[in-house]
Amino acid sequence: MAEEDGNVVGVATGTILRGNEKEGGLARLGWICVHPAHQRGGIGRALLNRVIEHSKEQKCHKITLYTLPVLIPALNLYFKLGFVPEAYLQKEWWGVDFIKMSKWL
Ligand SMILES: CC(C)(COP(=O)(O)OP(=O)(O)OC[C@H]1O[C@@H](n2cnc3c(N)ncnc32)[C@H](O)[C@@H]1OP(=O)(O)O)[C@@H](O)C(=O)NCCC(=O)NCCS
Repeated sequence: MAEEDGNVVGVATGTILRGNEKEGGLARLGWICVHPAHQRGGIGRALLNRVIEHSKEQKCHKITLYTLPVLIPALNLYFKLGFVPEAYLQKEWWGVDFIKMSKWL
């Protein structure tokens, strides 16, 4: 969570799927968002960097996420922090296209 003057201005959620080298070691980013009035100020990048660090601390070997091809700011952010497209999923949930992106740690 990102906080400014006591207000929540950004959130990143996710799940660690058995964060242990011998078992799963997969982290999944569920949702990341920054309040519109606070966007483009580095909060999204800071949140995602924290997710990456936390996943490493939990001994995950990979972080994966699902996003939409129309979410250009999010796609740019993911590319900048080293995520790569792993699959293009046509008409996945709700009949719209999704992209699975991942980063290996
Ligand atoms: C995606 C999101 C979290 C980025 O948060 P942010 O705090 O504005 O991002 P940052 O300021 O840290 O920017 C990091 C990078 O993201 C990209 N980016 C952010 N906003 C962008 C925009 N409006 N257009 C294009 N690229 C953008 C840029 O590559 C930027 O790097 P730069 O500043 O060096 O150009 C924010 O736009 C958001 O909440 N979007 C709506 C929710 C959403 O789409 N979530 C993702 C669901 S999968």
